[in-house]
Amino acid sequence: MEDKLIINGGKHLNGTIKVDGAKNAFLPILAASVLCEGEIELDNYVAISDLTNMREILETLNIFSSVDGEKLYIDAKDVKNVRITHELSQKVRASIFILGALLGRFRSAIIAYPGGCKIGSRPIDIHIKGFKALGAKIIERHGYIYCHGENMKAAEVVLDFPSVGATESLMMCATMLEGETVLKNTAKEPEIVDLQNFLNSMGAKVRGAGTGCIVIEGVKNLHGCDYKVMTDRIVAGTYLLAVATCGGDVLVDGANWRHNESLLSFLKQTACKLDVFDDKIRLKADKRLSSIEKIETYPYPLFPTDLQAQMMVLQAVSKGTSIITETVFESRFGQVMELAKMGANIVVKDRTAVIKGVEKLYGADVYATDLRAGACLVMAGMKAEGYTTVNNIKYIDRGYKSIEEKYNLLGADIKRI
Ligand code: EPZ
Repeated sequence: MEDKLIINGGKHLNGTIKVDGAKNAFLPILAASVLCEGEIELDNYVAISDLTNMREILETLNIFSSVDGEKLYIDAKDVKNVRITHELSQKVRASIFILGALLGRFRSAIIAYPGGCKIGSRPIDIHIKGFKALGAKIIERHGYIYCHGENMKAAEVVLDFPSVGATESLMMCATMLEGETVLKNTAKEPEIVDLQNFLNSMGAKVRGAGTGCIVIEGVKNLHGCDYKVMTDRIVAGTYLLAVATCGGDVLVDGANWRHNESLLSFLKQTACKLDVFDDKIRLKADKRLSSIEKIETYPYPLFPTDLQAQMMVLQAVSKGTSIITETVFESRFGQVMELAKMGANIVVKDRTAVIKGVEKLYGADVYATDLRAGACLVMAGMKAEGYTTVNNIKYIDRGYKSIEEKYNLLGADIKRI
């Protein structure tokens, strides 16, 4: 029987909540450890299932890791380059990053197509085109990708779209390619800057992450290092939107405002009160907030697709009408049907949702369809009158550690059964 959350809604949220390490920085950094022949210590580890699954995949490559609190120790000196099977690569989208790292170190790799939340087709054509531009021979057959990199060499690669994963895959692949590789039209997410900083702490020569053009000067090998991974800007944004939705006064500890400028700019349009510190953000909401007229998701630094569902909940209970357009993934409105069960007034056409704010949401039996949709249903349940049951919380556990414990510390009433 799968776990579910029972939420007794209507409570304000007050107090301090700590933001853990960033899932979407840790995943590529774990993959990048394949490149290294030394011992690595990573700080800010968070026990979420996506990271546990990634560690299991690395174990099939003979790369073992151990955790002590928030520190993870990993050693890739005896890595064996084996096929990453369908069962494993289906577990987490980030398994595709291992392909770039294996190609970078061994110039060969076999991996099944990756998994990930069902929010669109999630192709990997930009990754593959990039590897080919670096001289790799790629054969896709029977659900597997066979990569031969004997003839790979540094080159200029222009991405068709600023794909986060493709940018990270190609950074890893080029790290040990002799010569200078230039990646253009790259994604600019903070997680990519974190990956660059991690690679350089192992002795790589990468620069330009965050600018849209990344230059990698190949090195012969990489050494072990200690590295502290950034905090999770999407989890921080989720907490801020939860307080804005439910009302209250919360200090989000570990939130780097520089990573959430778009969200903060939108929140300033509502009536909530924001105090921004170097690594903390305080949000106070003591009345129903006004709607934000138009919100569109785009690659960083614009409003992130990973906060779209959470923003939709806030708009669903705000004063006025809001139009949210999801431009990054083709089917990322899985939460709409579930919010409608709770009384939300949302009309969807293609990639646009029109949300007419209502005064109240009402508890209901709802189903998470993906990680961030699940997080948004928890917010809606905390806001709603009465009891809400959120099913399929395995999705939420992929990216939020003990979400119920975190919110209960702020005064929520959530039980995991
Ligand atoms: C990363 O996914 C994140 N996951 C996602 O977070 C996030 O939503 C996404 O970036 C966008 O910010 C991790 O970092 C593990 P993309 P990724 O490649 O790399 C298309 C979460 O909730 N595309 O930037 O898969 C793709 O279909 C998750 O934490 C191609 O067409 O995202 C999508 O429409 C969900 N071909 C768009 O680009 C490709 O080869 C953005 O995808 C690759 C991508």
